[in-house]
Amino acid sequence: MASFYVTTPIYYVNAAPHLGHAYTTIAADVMARHHRQRGDDVFFLTGTDEHGEPVALAAEAAGVTPRELADKNAERFKALAPVLNVTNDFFIRTSDPEHVKAVQEVLTKVKDNGYVELGTYEGWYCPRCADFKSEQEIVDGDRCPIHLIELDWEQEENYFFKLSKLQDRLEELYAKHPDFVTPSTRRNEALSFIKGGLQDVSLTRGKLTWGVPVPWDEKHVFYVWFDALLNYYTALTYAKPGQDLREEFWPASYHLIAKDILKFHCVFWPALLMAADLPLPKHVFVHGYLLLEGHKMSKSLGNVLDPFEVIDKYGADALRFYLLRDVSFGQDGSVSTADFEKRYESELANDFGNLASRTIKMVLRYRDGAVPQVEPDPTLQPDFEGLQDRVSALVGRAELTPALEEIWQRVRRLNRYVDEQAPWKLAKEEGRAADLDRTLATLVEGLRVVTVLLYPWIPERAATLMHALGAPADVELTDTNPALSLATAKLGARVPTHVTDLDPLFPKQQPPKAA
Ligand code: ME8
Ligand code: MG
Repeated sequence: MASFYVTTPIYYVNAAPHLGHAYTTIAADVMARHHRQRGDDVFFLTGTDEHGEPVALAAEAAGVTPRELADKNAERFKALAPVLNVTNDFFIRTSDPEHVKAVQEVLTKVKDNGYVELGTYEGWYCPRCADFKSEQEIVDGDRCPIHLIELDWEQEENYFFKLSKLQDRLEELYAKHPDFVTPSTRRNEALSFIKGGLQDVSLTRGKLTWGVPVPWDEKHVFYVWFDALLNYYTALTYAKPGQDLREEFWPASYHLIAKDILKFHCVFWPALLMAADLPLPKHVFVHGYLLLEGHKMSKSLGNVLDPFEVIDKYGADALRFYLLRDVSFGQDGSVSTADFEKRYESELANDFGNLASRTIKMVLRYRDGAVPQVEPDPTLQPDFEGLQDRVSALVGRAELTPALEEIWQRVRRLNRYVDEQAPWKLAKEEGRAADLDRTLATLVEGLRVVTVLLYPWIPERAATLMHALGAPADVELTDTNPALSLATAKLGARVPTHVTDLDPLFPKQQPPKAA
């Protein structure tokens, strides 16, 4: 059995979760569910980043302790997962004592291996990013390019991580593994940062107290990024009490992040692991920003769409589908309520919802719900040939939008097939019973195939539909149920025997009544 380990960033608890956080978490869930459907053994991690200045400053502003703020907001991030219908196997908080201890162990090893040195940092620092910015990275003389706030000029004695010593090994990593970072634009960005010449970076902060204490010098805490990055590794040491999941799941298969934290994941992170003699993750996929009115949606800019509200009205499936369909995963893209409603109506309600309801209604009407047990129409086979392999290959590379498009083309093909065959005419014509049988079997089977493939994006409604297509009603369909196995996502693999009636999967929303 293959192992698959996927992660999201751990989110700062300085504010409540917003759609940007939901986005990465949903994408990771799509990958996790798809891999479970393949039969892989999956571990899916998300969580919260609780130390450092971003949290300490927000707590100060709110008049509470960092721990109080962290406890309150970590709960809100935790609560988001079930609302999004996300199946993470563990939720890490960097304030967990097990994480703290493991961070101290790994970073002591880094020091013992000769990668730590006392020095003085002098330069720009963004307390919101918790990022030491080089001159090339700043805008308007002294501002953060992400948060647009004035940067602090810092001067402090810190222990440094000797990143510069790893320059050659990082270049070698990028040369040997061209798909370590994807998409390639992001890979090039990371590589050119490396080739620009790596400076040593602060590993500890002498000025802060909210963090993991440095075991060899208690006046310091670790710089939050090193504490945070290590979550991907430390979680495996204690997520399942009594088990060391590192044996099976380290190194990670995929880290999903947005481009705001590229430098940390594509440069610092592999360097840190090298310095600790630990195996490197296989892939980092860097997606773009969700934009609202042209700006990165972010809590500090205040332009956020509330995922809880959208889900309340349309359900989690619709949001999951919209985000990975309308914004090409890997690129920036604008989101808006109007676009959301358009996709919902034209694709979920019309293309897919109507295909499902008319297919089922016809089998009920013409064959009393019994699906004719005949071979699907050979003329449709070329459209489905190799589909499952292509979708699996795309999802396997985190290319979630093209994967969805592959499936959607078949949803559209099935709708055209209904119109071409006009089963309502066949039903009236004498001697066409065999043709009607074949048409109905093909539609039901085609619908089943696209539903199995679509399941990671729309797990709730896909499961409902699978029940209407004959999956036993008393069994809850989870990712590993044989009815959802990817091996069955082939036309003709498992023609359902009967169908049952179904309410509209994606009901059209009533426009608000004029007052
Ligand atoms: O950076 N569009 O936490 P964070 C797309 N704690 N994705 C977005 C987004 C947007 N507008 N806004 C946020 C941190 N995200 C660190 C990470 S990891 C070891 C430590 C998502 O709360 C996206 O995944 O600022 C982005 O990388 C992440 O949230 C940043 O979350
Ligand atoms: Mg941020």
